[in-house]
Amino acid sequence: MRRAVFPGSFDPLTNGHLDIITRSSPLFDEIVIAVLNNADKQPMFSVDERCEMIREVLPSVCTNDCVMVVESFSGLTADFARSKNATAIVRGIRAVSDYEYELRMALMNRRLEPTIETVFLMAGEEFSYVSSTLMKQVFELGGRVEGLIPTLVEERMREKLNK
Ligand code: PNS
Repeated sequence: MRRAVFPGSFDPLTNGHLDIITRSSPLFDEIVIAVLNNADKQPMFSVDERCEMIREVLPSVCTNDCVMVVESFSGLTADFARSKNATAIVRGIRAVSDYEYELRMALMNRRLEPTIETVFLMAGEEFSYVSSTLMKQVFELGGRVEGLIPTLVEERMREKLNK
C-alpha cells in the first residue's frame, strides 16, 4: 500500500493544487490531502470549509485508481504523515523560487521522520504563477481568476466577499 500525504494550507484550493493531485495519483494507492489548521494565520476559509471544498471538487478531477482522502491536521507534517503510515510527502514545485523553501522543509521533515521521503512534482507551466495568496488578492480586487481556481471555489470566494 503506497500512501502519500499532500500537505498544505489550501486557502483556497487552486487548479495548481489539482494539477499536482492529478500528477501524483498514478504514483500512489492513496493520497491524504492534509489541510493544515494553522492558528497563526488569518485564513479566508475555515479548515472545515477548505476540506469541504476539496471534497466537492475532487470527483471532477482525474485521479486514476488512487483513493483520495481529505483530512485536517495540526502540528508537524512529519508527525501527521507518520500517523498515517505514509511513505511519502508530496509537494509541488512551480518555479526555482519555490525550491529553497521546499528543500529546507523536505530536509527538516526527513530529519524528523527519516522513513518518509518528500516527492516533488513539477506543476504544469500554466500554473507556475498560481498561488492561493495571489488568487485571493486578485479576486478581492476584482480581477479575473477564471481557469486558475475551480468554479466552486470562485463561487465560495464571491459568497465570502459579499457577506
Ligand atoms: O500550502 P503551504 O502553505 O505552502 O503549506 C505549507 C505546509 C503546510 C506544508 C507547512 O507549513 C507545514 O508542513 N506546516 C506544518 C508544521 C510543520 O511541519 N513545520 C515544519 C516543516 S519542516
